[in-house]
Amino acid sequence: MLKEIGDDCAGAVRFVSPERIDDTRRSGLSPISESEIGRRLSQLESDPAAARSINDEGRFSLAGAQAKIALRLEGDSWYIPWGSEPTTHILKPPRSDFSGQAEDEHFCLKLASALGMRAAQTSVQSFAGSKAIVVKRFDRILHQGKLYRVHQEDMCQALSVGPASKYESDGGPGVADIMQIVSGSQRRLEDRDALMNAIVFNYLILGADAHAKNYSILYTSEGFILAPLYDVASFAPYVKSPKDERLAMRIDRYYKAAQIRRRHFERMARSCNYPAKKLLASLEKLALAIPAACDQVGASAIDEGLDTTFIEKLVRALKSRSQQALDTIVASPK
Ligand SMILES: Nc1ncnc2c1ncn2[C@@H]1O[C@H](COP(=O)(O)OP(=O)(O)OP(=O)(O)O)[C@@H](O)[C@H]1O
Ligand SMILES: [Mg+2]
Repeated sequence: MLKEIGDDCAGAVRFVSPERIDDTRRSGLSPISESEIGRRLSQLESDPAAARSINDEGRFSLAGAQAKIALRLEGDSWYIPWGSEPTTHILKPPRSDFSGQAEDEHFCLKLASALGMRAAQTSVQSFAGSKAIVVKRFDRILHQGKLYRVHQEDMCQALSVGPASKYESDGGPGVADIMQIVSGSQRRLEDRDALMNAIVFNYLILGADAHAKNYSILYTSEGFILAPLYDVASFAPYVKSPKDERLAMRIDRYYKAAQIRRRHFERMARSCNYPAKKLLASLEKLALAIPAACDQVGASAIDEGLDTTFIEKLVRALKSRSQQALDTIVASPK
Protein backbone atom coordinates (compact mmCIF):
# COMPACT_ATOMS: atom_id res chain seq x y z
CA MET A 1 0.00 0.00 0.00
CA LEU A 2 2.68 2.49 1.02
CA LYS A 3 4.67 1.66 -2.12
CA GLU A 4 1.71 2.81 -4.17
CA ILE A 5 0.33 5.70 -2.12
CA GLY A 6 3.11 6.63 0.30
CA ASP A 7 4.30 9.78 -1.53
CA ASP A 8 2.89 12.06 1.21
CA CYS A 9 2.29 10.52 4.65
CA ALA A 10 1.70 11.60 8.22
CA GLY A 11 4.99 13.17 9.28
CA ALA A 12 8.11 13.46 7.15
CA VAL A 13 8.43 9.98 5.69
CA ARG A 14 7.85 9.27 2.00
CA PHE A 15 7.66 5.89 0.30
CA VAL A 16 8.35 5.60 -3.41
CA SER A 17 9.15 2.48 -5.41
CA PRO A 18 12.56 2.49 -7.18
CA GLU A 19 11.00 2.82 -10.62
CA ARG A 20 9.13 5.99 -9.55
CA ILE A 21 12.01 7.78 -7.82
CA ASP A 22 12.91 9.86 -10.87
CA ASP A 23 9.24 10.90 -11.27
CA THR A 24 9.08 12.17 -7.71
CA ARG A 25 12.16 14.35 -8.16
CA ARG A 26 10.04 16.51 -10.42
CA SER A 27 7.16 18.18 -8.62
CA GLY A 28 4.23 20.49 -9.06
CA LEU A 29 0.70 21.45 -8.12
CA SER A 30 -2.35 20.46 -10.18
CA PRO A 31 -5.37 22.71 -9.60
CA ILE A 32 -8.57 21.05 -8.40
CA SER A 33 -11.92 22.87 -8.52
CA GLU A 34 -14.30 23.15 -5.57
CA SER A 35 -16.91 21.18 -7.50
CA GLU A 36 -14.43 18.36 -8.16
CA ILE A 37 -13.51 18.33 -4.44
CA GLY A 38 -17.26 18.20 -3.66
CA ARG A 39 -17.76 15.32 -6.06
CA ARG A 40 -14.96 13.33 -4.47
CA LEU A 41 -16.12 14.13 -0.91
CA SER A 42 -19.59 12.85 -1.71
CA GLN A 43 -18.15 9.58 -3.09
CA LEU A 44 -15.80 8.95 -0.18
CA GLU A 45 -18.26 7.18 2.08
CA SER A 46 -18.97 4.45 -0.47
CA ASP A 47 -15.50 4.52 -2.01
CA PRO A 48 -12.56 5.66 0.16
CA ALA A 49 -10.34 5.53 -2.95
CA ALA A 50 -12.31 8.47 -4.42
CA ALA A 51 -9.84 10.80 -2.65
CA ARG A 52 -7.65 10.54 -5.73
CA SER A 53 -8.60 9.71 -9.31
CA ILE A 54 -6.62 7.30 -11.45
CA ASN A 55 -5.21 10.21 -13.50
CA ASP A 56 -3.88 12.18 -10.52
CA GLU A 57 -0.15 12.05 -10.18
CA GLY A 58 0.01 13.12 -6.52
CA ARG A 59 -0.76 10.47 -3.88
CA PHE A 60 -1.06 10.47 -0.11
CA SER A 61 -1.62 8.14 2.80
CA LEU A 62 -3.11 8.93 6.22
CA ALA A 63 -4.32 6.70 9.05
CA GLY A 64 -7.83 6.68 10.52
CA ALA A 65 -11.21 5.03 10.32
CA GLN A 66 -12.75 7.86 8.29
CA ALA A 67 -12.11 8.33 4.60
CA LYS A 68 -10.37 11.63 3.93
CA ILE A 69 -8.67 13.74 1.26
CA ALA A 70 -5.32 15.52 1.69
CA LEU A 71 -4.80 18.59 -0.49
CA ARG A 72 -2.66 21.69 -0.82
CA LEU A 73 -4.08 25.15 -0.17
CA GLU A 74 -2.27 28.14 -1.74
CA GLY A 75 -4.04 31.44 -1.15
CA ASP A 76 -7.70 30.61 -1.79
CA SER A 77 -7.05 27.84 -4.29
CA TRP A 78 -6.86 24.08 -3.87
CA TYR A 79 -4.33 21.82 -5.56
CA ILE A 80 -3.27 18.18 -5.75
CA PRO A 81 0.46 18.34 -5.10
CA TRP A 82 2.66 15.77 -6.82
CA GLY A 83 6.31 14.74 -6.78
CA SER A 84 7.98 16.06 -3.65
CA GLU A 85 5.34 18.75 -2.96
CA PRO A 86 3.48 18.16 0.33
CA THR A 87 -0.21 18.48 1.14
CA THR A 88 -1.17 21.11 3.74
CA HIS A 89 -4.78 20.29 4.68
CA ILE A 90 -6.93 17.26 5.47
CA LEU A 91 -10.61 17.23 4.42
CA LYS A 92 -12.93 14.80 6.19
CA PRO A 93 -16.58 14.49 5.23
CA PRO A 94 -18.89 13.89 8.22
CA ARG A 95 -20.18 10.36 8.75
CA SER A 96 -23.77 10.14 7.59
CA ASP A 97 -24.78 8.25 10.78
CA PHE A 98 -23.62 11.13 13.05
CA SER A 99 -25.35 14.27 11.92
CA GLY A 100 -23.33 17.32 12.97
CA GLN A 101 -20.03 15.44 13.17
CA ALA A 102 -17.95 18.04 11.29
CA GLU A 103 -19.44 20.84 13.43
CA ASP A 104 -18.77 18.79 16.57
CA GLU A 105 -15.06 18.24 15.83
CA HIS A 106 -14.58 21.87 14.78
CA PHE A 107 -16.38 23.14 17.88
CA CYS A 108 -14.45 20.91 20.30
CA LEU A 109 -11.06 21.87 18.85
CA LYS A 110 -12.02 25.55 19.03
CA LEU A 111 -13.20 25.02 22.60
CA ALA A 112 -9.88 23.39 23.49
CA SER A 113 -8.07 26.44 22.05
CA ALA A 114 -10.35 28.83 23.91
CA LEU A 115 -9.44 26.97 27.11
CA GLY A 116 -5.73 27.46 26.45
CA MET A 117 -4.84 24.10 24.87
CA ARG A 118 -2.89 23.79 21.63
CA ALA A 119 -5.23 22.37 18.99
CA ALA A 120 -5.31 21.86 15.22
CA GLN A 121 -6.87 24.73 13.25
CA THR A 122 -10.08 23.77 11.52
CA SER A 123 -13.08 25.12 9.64
CA VAL A 124 -16.27 23.60 8.32
CA GLN A 125 -16.66 24.21 4.61
CA SER A 126 -19.03 23.25 1.86
CA PHE A 127 -17.61 22.21 -1.51
CA ALA A 128 -20.38 22.41 -4.10
CA GLY A 129 -22.84 21.22 -1.46
CA SER A 130 -20.59 18.56 0.15
CA LYS A 131 -19.63 19.39 3.70
CA ALA A 132 -16.21 18.68 5.21
CA ILE A 133 -14.12 19.60 8.19
CA VAL A 134 -10.95 21.19 6.83
CA VAL A 135 -7.96 20.61 9.12
CA LYS A 136 -4.69 22.47 8.73
CA ARG A 137 -1.79 20.03 9.03
CA PHE A 138 0.58 20.72 11.93
CA ASP A 139 3.21 18.42 10.41
CA ARG A 140 3.92 20.95 7.64
CA ILE A 141 5.74 24.24 8.23
CA LEU A 142 6.36 27.18 5.97
CA HIS A 143 9.89 28.53 6.31
CA GLN A 144 11.15 31.33 4.08
CA GLY A 145 8.52 30.59 1.46
CA LYS A 146 9.18 26.84 1.34
CA LEU A 147 7.03 24.10 2.86
CA TYR A 148 8.73 21.44 4.96
CA ARG A 149 7.43 18.16 6.35
CA VAL A 150 7.89 17.74 10.11
CA HIS A 151 8.03 14.20 11.36
CA GLN A 152 5.25 13.00 13.66
CA GLU A 153 4.32 9.70 15.22
CA ASP A 154 1.07 8.81 16.89
CA MET A 155 1.23 7.08 20.27
CA CYS A 156 0.69 3.62 18.77
CA GLN A 157 3.66 4.16 16.48
CA ALA A 158 5.73 5.63 19.32
CA LEU A 159 4.95 2.61 21.49
CA SER A 160 5.25 0.02 18.67
CA VAL A 161 1.61 -1.01 19.02
CA GLY A 162 -0.30 -2.03 15.89
CA PRO A 163 -3.28 0.07 14.78
CA ALA A 164 -5.69 -2.82 15.52
CA SER A 165 -4.89 -2.22 19.22
CA LYS A 166 -5.45 1.54 19.23
CA TYR A 167 -8.18 1.21 21.90
CA GLU A 168 -7.04 0.40 25.42
CA SER A 169 -9.91 -2.08 25.72
CA ASP A 170 -8.35 -4.01 22.81
CA GLY A 171 -5.02 -4.20 24.67
CA GLY A 172 -3.77 -0.80 23.46
CA PRO A 173 -2.02 2.01 25.32
CA GLY A 174 -3.54 3.75 28.32
CA VAL A 175 -2.93 7.14 29.92
CA ALA A 176 0.19 6.01 31.87
CA ASP A 177 1.80 4.51 28.73
CA ILE A 178 1.27 7.73 26.81
CA MET A 179 2.46 9.81 29.76
CA GLN A 180 5.68 7.79 29.76
CA ILE A 181 6.36 8.81 26.14
CA VAL A 182 5.42 12.43 26.85
CA SER A 183 7.80 12.47 29.83
CA GLY A 184 10.64 12.26 27.28
CA SER A 185 9.46 15.48 25.61
CA GLN A 186 11.80 18.39 25.16
CA ARG A 187 9.15 20.42 26.99
CA ARG A 188 8.60 17.78 29.64
CA LEU A 189 6.69 19.75 32.25
CA GLU A 190 4.57 21.74 29.83
CA ASP A 191 3.70 18.65 27.77
CA ARG A 192 2.93 16.46 30.79
CA ASP A 193 0.45 19.17 31.87
CA ALA A 194 -0.89 19.42 28.30
CA LEU A 195 -1.50 15.66 28.11
CA MET A 196 -3.23 15.60 31.51
CA ASN A 197 -5.39 18.55 30.47
CA ALA A 198 -6.29 16.75 27.24
CA ILE A 199 -7.28 13.58 29.13
CA VAL A 200 -9.39 15.65 31.54
CA PHE A 201 -10.88 17.65 28.65
CA ASN A 202 -11.87 14.45 26.84
CA TYR A 203 -13.51 13.21 30.04
CA LEU A 204 -15.40 16.51 30.48
CA ILE A 205 -16.68 16.68 26.89
CA LEU A 206 -17.10 12.90 26.56
CA GLY A 207 -14.49 12.68 23.83
CA ALA A 208 -15.26 8.99 23.40
CA ASP A 209 -12.80 8.34 20.58
CA ALA A 210 -9.63 9.72 22.24
CA HIS A 211 -7.54 6.59 21.62
CA ALA A 212 -3.76 6.31 21.29
CA LYS A 213 -3.72 7.19 17.58
CA ASN A 214 -5.41 10.48 18.40
CA TYR A 215 -2.37 11.74 20.34
CA SER A 216 0.94 12.34 18.58
CA ILE A 217 4.44 13.65 19.04
CA LEU A 218 6.23 15.99 16.65
CA TYR A 219 9.97 15.73 16.10
CA THR A 220 12.16 18.81 16.36
CA SER A 221 15.90 19.13 15.78
CA GLU A 222 16.48 18.68 19.51
CA GLY A 223 14.00 15.93 20.35
CA PHE A 224 10.22 15.81 20.29
CA ILE A 225 7.20 17.64 21.68
CA LEU A 226 3.53 16.72 22.11
CA ALA A 227 1.60 17.57 18.92
CA PRO A 228 -1.45 19.86 19.11
CA LEU A 229 -4.78 18.14 19.78
CA TYR A 230 -6.63 16.77 16.72
CA ASP A 231 -9.61 14.51 15.99
CA VAL A 232 -11.30 15.60 19.23
CA ALA A 233 -15.10 15.42 19.28
CA SER A 234 -17.82 15.11 21.87
CA PHE A 235 -20.09 12.09 21.91
CA ALA A 236 -22.45 13.91 24.31
CA PRO A 237 -24.99 15.01 21.66
CA TYR A 238 -25.36 11.39 20.48
CA VAL A 239 -25.81 9.66 23.85
CA LYS A 240 -29.01 7.60 24.02
CA SER A 241 -28.40 5.78 27.29
CA PRO A 242 -25.79 6.02 30.08
CA LYS A 243 -24.00 2.94 28.72
CA ASP A 244 -23.03 5.04 25.67
CA GLU A 245 -20.99 7.30 27.95
CA ARG A 246 -17.77 5.34 27.53
CA LEU A 247 -14.26 6.73 27.20
CA ALA A 248 -11.55 5.33 24.92
CA MET A 249 -9.04 5.24 27.79
CA ARG A 250 -9.65 4.21 31.38
CA ILE A 251 -9.49 6.61 34.28
CA ASP A 252 -8.01 4.21 36.85
CA ARG A 253 -10.14 1.09 36.19
CA TYR A 254 -13.16 2.73 34.58
CA TYR A 255 -14.14 3.46 31.01
CA LYS A 256 -17.73 4.43 31.89
CA ALA A 257 -17.83 8.16 32.61
CA ALA A 258 -20.67 7.77 35.13
CA GLN A 259 -18.57 5.45 37.33
CA ILE A 260 -15.58 7.76 37.56
CA ARG A 261 -15.04 9.52 40.89
CA ARG A 262 -12.37 11.76 42.37
CA ARG A 263 -10.38 8.80 43.76
CA HIS A 264 -10.07 7.31 40.27
CA PHE A 265 -8.53 10.50 38.94
CA GLU A 266 -6.20 10.51 41.96
CA ARG A 267 -5.09 6.94 41.26
CA MET A 268 -4.67 7.65 37.57
CA ALA A 269 -2.48 10.66 38.43
CA ARG A 270 -0.34 8.47 40.71
CA SER A 271 0.09 5.87 37.96
CA CYS A 272 1.52 8.69 35.82
CA ASN A 273 3.70 10.10 38.61
CA TYR A 274 1.66 13.26 38.28
CA PRO A 275 0.52 15.38 41.25
CA ALA A 276 -3.13 14.43 41.93
CA LYS A 277 -3.86 17.87 43.39
CA LYS A 278 -2.70 19.53 40.22
CA LEU A 279 -4.85 17.24 38.08
CA LEU A 280 -7.94 17.94 40.20
CA ALA A 281 -7.24 21.67 40.12
CA SER A 282 -7.05 21.54 36.31
CA LEU A 283 -10.27 19.56 36.16
CA GLU A 284 -12.06 22.11 38.31
CA LYS A 285 -10.64 25.02 36.35
CA LEU A 286 -11.65 23.51 33.00
CA ALA A 287 -15.11 22.49 34.21
CA LEU A 288 -15.73 26.01 35.57
CA ALA A 289 -14.48 27.64 32.37
CA ILE A 290 -16.41 25.43 29.92
CA PRO A 291 -19.83 27.18 30.09
CA ALA A 292 -18.55 30.67 29.19
CA ALA A 293 -16.09 29.26 26.63
CA CYS A 294 -18.97 27.27 25.06
CA ASP A 295 -21.04 30.45 24.75
CA GLN A 296 -18.15 32.26 23.10
CA VAL A 297 -17.23 29.42 20.70
CA GLY A 298 -20.92 28.74 20.02
CA ALA A 299 -21.55 32.37 19.07
CA SER A 300 -18.65 32.40 16.64
CA ALA A 301 -19.67 29.01 15.20
CA ILE A 302 -23.14 30.40 14.49
CA ASP A 303 -21.52 33.51 12.93
CA GLU A 304 -19.51 31.16 10.70
CA GLY A 305 -22.84 29.78 9.47
CA LEU A 306 -22.79 26.44 11.29
CA ASP A 307 -26.02 24.60 12.04
CA THR A 308 -27.55 26.55 14.97
CA THR A 309 -29.74 23.69 16.23
CA PHE A 310 -26.82 21.29 16.46
CA ILE A 311 -24.49 23.86 18.07
CA GLU A 312 -27.15 24.69 20.69
CA LYS A 313 -27.65 21.01 21.44
CA LEU A 314 -23.88 20.49 21.78
CA VAL A 315 -23.49 23.53 24.06
CA ARG A 316 -26.34 22.31 26.30
CA ALA A 317 -24.80 18.82 26.50
CA LEU A 318 -21.32 20.17 27.30
CA LYS A 319 -22.59 22.55 29.98
CA SER A 320 -24.53 19.75 31.61
CA ARG A 321 -21.50 17.45 31.56
CA SER A 322 -19.22 20.06 33.12
CA GLN A 323 -21.77 20.68 35.89
CA GLN A 324 -22.02 16.94 36.47
CA ALA A 325 -18.23 16.73 36.79
CA LEU A 326 -18.24 19.59 39.30
CA ASP A 327 -20.87 17.71 41.33
CA THR A 328 -19.34 14.23 41.19
CA ILE A 329 -15.59 14.92 41.15
CA VAL A 330 -15.00 18.37 42.64
CA ALA A 331 -17.76 18.73 45.23
CA SER A 332 -17.73 15.17 46.51
CA PRO A 333 -14.57 14.22 48.41
CA LYS A 334 -14.37 10.51 47.49
N1 LIG B 1 -3.93 18.55 11.88
C1 LIG B 1 -3.18 17.48 11.59
N2 LIG B 1 -1.89 17.62 11.21
C2 LIG B 1 -1.14 16.55 10.89
N3 LIG B 1 -1.58 15.29 10.91
C3 LIG B 1 -2.85 15.08 11.27
C4 LIG B 1 -3.72 16.15 11.63
N4 LIG B 1 -4.94 15.64 11.93
C5 LIG B 1 -4.82 14.31 11.75
N5 LIG B 1 -3.58 13.97 11.35
C6 LIG B 1 -3.05 12.63 11.05
O1 LIG B 1 -3.99 11.95 10.26
C7 LIG B 1 -4.49 10.81 10.95
C8 LIG B 1 -5.97 10.67 10.70
O2 LIG B 1 -6.67 11.84 11.08
P1 LIG B 1 -7.93 11.78 12.06
O3 LIG B 1 -7.51 11.22 13.35
O4 LIG B 1 -8.54 13.14 12.05
O5 LIG B 1 -8.84 10.77 11.25
P2 LIG B 1 -10.02 9.81 11.68
O6 LIG B 1 -10.26 8.94 10.50
O7 LIG B 1 -11.14 10.63 12.21
O8 LIG B 1 -9.38 8.94 12.83
P3 LIG B 1 -10.09 7.83 13.80
O9 LIG B 1 -9.70 6.51 13.25
O10 LIG B 1 -9.39 8.16 15.08
O11 LIG B 1 -11.54 8.13 13.81
C9 LIG B 1 -4.13 11.04 12.42
O12 LIG B 1 -4.00 9.85 13.14
C10 LIG B 1 -2.83 11.83 12.30
O13 LIG B 1 -1.74 10.94 12.07
MG1 LIG C 1 -8.11 9.77 14.50
